Amino acid sequence: MGQGMLIKNGTVITAHRTYEADIKIERGKIAGIGKDLDAQNLEKTIDAAGLWIIPGLIDMHVHFLSPFMGQMGAADFYSGTKAAAFGGVTTILDFTNTDIGQTMLESVKIKEEQAEGKALIDYSFHPRIVEAPQRIIDEIKELVDYGVPTFKMFMTYRRQGIQAHDGILMKVMEEAAKHNALPGVHAENNDIVESLTEEAVEAGETDWHAHARTRPPIAEEEAIQRAVYFAQRIGSPLFIYHVSTKGGAEAIAKAQKQGHPIYAETCPHYLSLTDEILKREDGYKYICSPPMRPKEHIEAMWEGLQKGYLSVTGSDDCNYSSEAKRAPMDVDKDGELIPEFQKVVNGLTGMESRFHVLMAKGVQSGKINMNEFVRITSYNAAKIFGLSAKKGDISIGYDADLVLIDPHKEMKLTYDKLHLDTQYNPWEGLKVKGIPVMTMVRGNPIIEQGQVVVEPGYGRFVRRKLDPSLLRQFGNF
Ligand code: URP
Ligand code: ZN
Ligand code: ZN
Repeated sequence: MGQGMLIKNGTVITAHRTYEADIKIERGKIAGIGKDLDAQNLEKTIDAAGLWIIPGLIDMHVHFLSPFMGQMGAADFYSGTKAAAFGGVTTILDFTNTDIGQTMLESVKIKEEQAEGKALIDYSFHPRIVEAPQRIIDEIKELVDYGVPTFKMFMTYRRQGIQAHDGILMKVMEEAAKHNALPGVHAENNDIVESLTEEAVEAGETDWHAHARTRPPIAEEEAIQRAVYFAQRIGSPLFIYHVSTKGGAEAIAKAQKQGHPIYAETCPHYLSLTDEILKREDGYKYICSPPMRPKEHIEAMWEGLQKGYLSVTGSDDCNYSSEAKRAPMDVDKDGELIPEFQKVVNGLTGMESRFHVLMAKGVQSGKINMNEFVRITSYNAAKIFGLSAKKGDISIGYDADLVLIDPHKEMKLTYDKLHLDTQYNPWEGLKVKGIPVMTMVRGNPIIEQGQVVVEPGYGRFVRRKLDPSLLRQFGNF
């Protein structure tokens, strides 16, 4: 790590302040912030005049090497963290693929092995819970003690074998409430989705857009309300992943107003793309769940972030390639795909583009300022997911996880400029002003001048501990 570094003359932007300062880094941590700091005895000085410096982004929702619907995500922990780092991300929280009969710790260990020697940036995991025998319930405390205190349950995908039914939800919430754990849900009503899908398939209505029609807003709204109701009755905190509907966001806001510790995420695609995209010839590429919605929901997602009842953005990056998305479908005699929405693996990419989408559609469009950008890309995620005092802020003693941004640099987002393995980019052609020029993790540059400048395996497993006060009472930081 050398003798430290000074980043001089930058504009420091945190969730709460914007100011000119130098940042001194020693042993990977922020050791000083102020005017005209002394560079003596420091190994390296970076002149950041004209650049913005923000905390490294936390992507609290990625799926690397995730098998689903017969397909596998294209990104491993090297290529995935590389793409993420180009998008200013310095920490990811990835989901385990815990299956029936497996222990959660086994599934975490598999992930640790996948990341070891490969990840460029720091990482942790959320175990998936698909069943709730006593051994899984007992593991919740074990995993909290291990530094993995957040979990995800799918309220849908019964046919895919990963649904956690209401009984499981309730048992997990009861146990989580005892041990400072944070259960989370993918909230879609399985019965609605399953019956509408069956009807659509029977009627031969299997165009790509039928994916959105068979997962209507009511399916998400009901599931959010049900999960919130269980959490309130049980006295458990709750995290709602990838909120996409106005009604869902309103239900969350209502619970928070009553003081309940319910936190929620939305994603770049729900902030920028409508369901119309599924009507395109290549609409299959954009099949994800929940689906993209009509415009009024996009407005509601921005309002949720502005007002603070949606606390964080995550990418929900599943990195299935267009080839993987096409694979289960047949072609006609002219070689054209025969649309069967129900066979297409669900999931989008976004870990690299989240920065650009939020910059273009949020900051440049005047919906949020840069302090709010920091709040929804790192600060709040660090608070909620047990990374504060380490990450998500530019403060003495914190990890020097930083992104240097050139606010004048412009880019038109095209697949060839990104670092994905997906063969497509959902935001092709998006014009962005304000581009990361350096991503740094624990004081070491990861991406500099468009190049990876660190060895695979630099990234570390981060053990997390949740803030008990945020688990008892909603906190809007
Ligand atoms: O379409 C999605 N989101 N795919 C699966 C992963 C998830 O978070 O539900
Ligand atoms: Zn989900
Ligand atoms: Zn996801």
